[in-house]
Amino acid sequence: MDAEALHSEAERRIKEVTIPLFEEQAHLFVDVWPTWKADLSQPGRQLTADQLQLLGQIETLDGKYVGGLRAYRANAVELLRASAAGENPLEGFRPSVPLGETLVAHGDAYRAAERAGIEAAQRCAFVLVAGGLGERLGYGGIKVGLPTESTTGCCYLRHYVEAILAIGDRAGRPLPLAIMLSGDTDAPTRALLKKEGNFGMRDEDLTLMVQDKVPSIVDGGGRFALAKDGRSLETKPHGHGDVHALVAAHGLADKWLAAGLERVFFFQDTNAFALRSCVANCGVSAKLDLDYNSSCVARKPGEAIGAICRLDRPATDAEDARALTLNVEYNQLAPLLASVGEADDPTPSGASRFPGNINQLLIKLGGDDGYAAVLQRTGGAVPEFVNPKYADETKTSFKKPTRLECMMQDYPKLLSSNAKVGFTVLERAAVREYSPVKNATADGAAKVRAGLAGACPATGEADLYAFNCDLLSVGGMDVAPAERRTFLDVPVDLRPRACLSPFFGLTEDDFERCVRGGSLGAGSSLVVEGRGSVVLEDVHVRAGSALRVTTGPGTKLV
Ligand code: UTP
Repeated sequence: MDAEALHSEAERRIKEVTIPLFEEQAHLFVDVWPTWKADLSQPGRQLTADQLQLLGQIETLDGKYVGGLRAYRANAVELLRASAAGENPLEGFRPSVPLGETLVAHGDAYRAAERAGIEAAQRCAFVLVAGGLGERLGYGGIKVGLPTESTTGCCYLRHYVEAILAIGDRAGRPLPLAIMLSGDTDAPTRALLKKEGNFGMRDEDLTLMVQDKVPSIVDGGGRFALAKDGRSLETKPHGHGDVHALVAAHGLADKWLAAGLERVFFFQDTNAFALRSCVANCGVSAKLDLDYNSSCVARKPGEAIGAICRLDRPATDAEDARALTLNVEYNQLAPLLASVGEADDPTPSGASRFPGNINQLLIKLGGDDGYAAVLQRTGGAVPEFVNPKYADETKTSFKKPTRLECMMQDYPKLLSSNAKVGFTVLERAAVREYSPVKNATADGAAKVRAGLAGACPATGEADLYAFNCDLLSVGGMDVAPAERRTFLDVPVDLRPRACLSPFFGLTEDDFERCVRGGSLGAGSSLVVEGRGSVVLEDVHVRAGSALRVTTGPGTKLV
């Protein structure tokens, strides 16, 4: 566009977008910019630096929200109305267990899923959501920079990138990774990637997408709040559901599909097992031809973890029948079941029949309900929710400003009733398949004492060693049992410190090949790192001792 066209586009936006928005939000400017209407209506206007900054912020926020800020306000008014009226979006739905598979590690079905999955994973793109503040963890830095374990200090981001490189090595071509960041995590994540040379990933395979916040809302009329500085809008995080709109805005789904990729795997900032479970999940997605597959773990009835449910609502005079498979928050599941005379009763194994969602999503790229088509249709805007804390029973004002939020696992709401949506439950005797690091140490200690998962640094580390020891045992290695130890008040069952690079092995078949017998004694450490091919044949690491094996690309070491 030439300068004149740019100018007339800017004028058009002021007239058609900014002025109507300001009219809706006129309360904002009563004191700070009483003459806004006259000023903005005047071509060739002279504005102060503060006014230009406010216009710039609004322009950015308007551009980032699918449909713009006026749509944001309209959505807020409707959601706040429904919230104040106490409407239940799940009303009238009957829950049942959806399509899916439960795979038990070391079993035939698990192996078969991994075999199909390691092929399918070679045609995957990967998306890491890492924009969260991590308030519960109370750590000043970024979560992906935290060590997965304290033996090598390998951080989550290295751990993830190396797994994607390892799958790419098998594919014979590099696979892409997109990372969603936010204002809170953008600069430090970029700095870490730069310092570490992207952990070996090429720049062209890495996309960094930055999510924005959304305006705070002060009342049921969807009025925005001014920040304390009096010069800008107050904004709050919009949630990890932003990832789909960002993938759409970056044109990634179309690009990946055109590059011959078939699925996208979404995962979170601190679950060290994410990319290992991705493999078995890919196998199930390929077998059942799922458009959308949620990674799950077995959940106990009542456990505070979302449940994947199929929801059916019969046709009424006003609406057609509706069926969708969705994550139902644990506190909504019991009332939903009660509404149809059922309960979350345990199965013979003690688990709930509804699998527990761990927010690792595997989405098919192609087809009518494929990711590329759905993003084209919707811009990736997943339905939002609002969670205001009302000041009193009249439900007209809030204790503090609220905002709309969205969750990436609500994506199936964008699919048609024909879409195949299912789950994969992974189980491993006495070893966790999901062990995120979300809680500060003191909170983690309290949770462990209450018999819950600690989800804190010590438990994340102990669970990673246990997982790796379990993989070594596939190759017949005799690994010492766990010892109960306590670190900073957090009791953990600590197995030998096994730190295994994804280049060493990804599947149980790999571990049968790359480990042949041997032993790991109590309190020992074994590190296998680097991009070479390593076989441990009859290797014994005695109690209290350590072995570190480091290889470079192309090395073959037995
Ligand atoms: P969490 O539930 O762990 O939330 O997010 P959080 O914001 O990181 O941590 P708390 O609640 O403040 O303690 C789940 C995943 O979603 C990402 C996080 O980075 C994590 O990988 N996330 C969350 C985003 O990318 N953006 C968001 O706005 C929120």
